Amino acid sequence: MANPLLAVSGLSVDFSRGGKIMRAVDDVSFSLAPGEVLGLVGESGSGKTTIGRALLRLLPQTDTKWSGTMLYQGTDLAKLSRGEMRRMRSKLQMIFQDPLSSFNPRRRLEDIVAEGLVIQGVPKPEREKRVRAALNDVGFDLDAVAGRTPHQFSGGQCQRIAIARALAVEPELIVCDEPVASLDVSVQAQVINLLQDIRETRKLSLIFISHDLAVVKNVSDRVAVLYRGKTVEIGAGEALYALPAHPYTRTLLEAVPVVDASRKVVPDRNRIDVPSRNQPLSGCAFRTRCPRAADICASHEPVLRLASGGQMVACHHPHDKPISGPFAASAQGGDDADGR
Ligand SMILES: Nc1ncnc2c1ncn2[C@@H]1O[C@H](COP(=O)(O)OP(=O)(O)OP(=O)(O)O)[C@@H](O)[C@H]1O
Ligand code: SF4
Ligand SMILES: [Mg+2]
Repeated sequence: MANPLLAVSGLSVDFSRGGKIMRAVDDVSFSLAPGEVLGLVGESGSGKTTIGRALLRLLPQTDTKWSGTMLYQGTDLAKLSRGEMRRMRSKLQMIFQDPLSSFNPRRRLEDIVAEGLVIQGVPKPEREKRVRAALNDVGFDLDAVAGRTPHQFSGGQCQRIAIARALAVEPELIVCDEPVASLDVSVQAQVINLLQDIRETRKLSLIFISHDLAVVKNVSDRVAVLYRGKTVEIGAGEALYALPAHPYTRTLLEAVPVVDASRKVVPDRNRIDVPSRNQPLSGCAFRTRCPRAADICASHEPVLRLASGGQMVACHHPHDKPISGPFAASAQGGDDADGR
């Protein structure tokens, strides 16, 4: 990619727990163009939040080891001092699944939204201007809500306040970590639409994290699928949804239920259960769950290579036919003829 905003290369993160090392992120590389939205998808424990936290340098200081480069407009975030990283946070922000837990419950809404600006040393008149504009972007009038505390707002409203807090520093990139996972289905769509609008008006780049490929589909230009800390498939959204090449991507797509806004949908846990991360696996980490696994999958770890849809896939026997089902809008037919 020519002149990426962000280029992550060989990012690995190890956590030690009770004397044992657990690799949460394993040699992950991706890049992001200015204004682009990259979806990061994978089941629980696949390393999504850890990647986001590594980018923002928010990983725990102890019992954590990480390596790799994270070039942001040519500056390696991995090498910045604490002070330099603090300044960098005017360009990079992160929002989390449960906004309420990141708010001080006694603080007034306008002070919460101004937090980043105070840290950046932005003078008071400018601060108020930016808080007003950020709140306005997420549908609040400062005069109408000033003085209220977080508990006076619903979950969806709190997430909008968290988005306003991120926007107030006028960032270029926001890492959105499961921003709608804790919200009702009807509110989820509102928050996603809001993020899409803001992305366009503010010319933002987003890294959009979700365990749900359906949520990521409408938001992302490109999608990276993670399994046990590794990228197993990455490419343009259209290719990945119409012609998913990795068996794991297909498992995730098949686990997406038909959308029914009247009920909260629970995916079939049997299809997406996570094997223990403490047990290292030789060859392909997905082989214990893969219907296409062959001898080579146990002995040789697959590396990312070009798939027939134009995306990159790490698999010895990738699918090369379109998928059937709700994501197959542009597909020509069913699954591979050999049915493996
Ligand atoms: N601070 C930590 N100390 C030890 N292990 C951790 C820590 N943070 C994450 N892990 C482990 O690293 C792995 C990846 O965790 P991570 O939170 O990045 O996954 P995730 O994809 O965000 O999952 P989820 O969808 O549940 O949020 C998991 O096995 C998790 O238990
Ligand atoms: S490499 Fe083998 S086990 Fe792994 S996903 Fe591909 S076919 Fe399945
Ligand atoms: Mg997470």
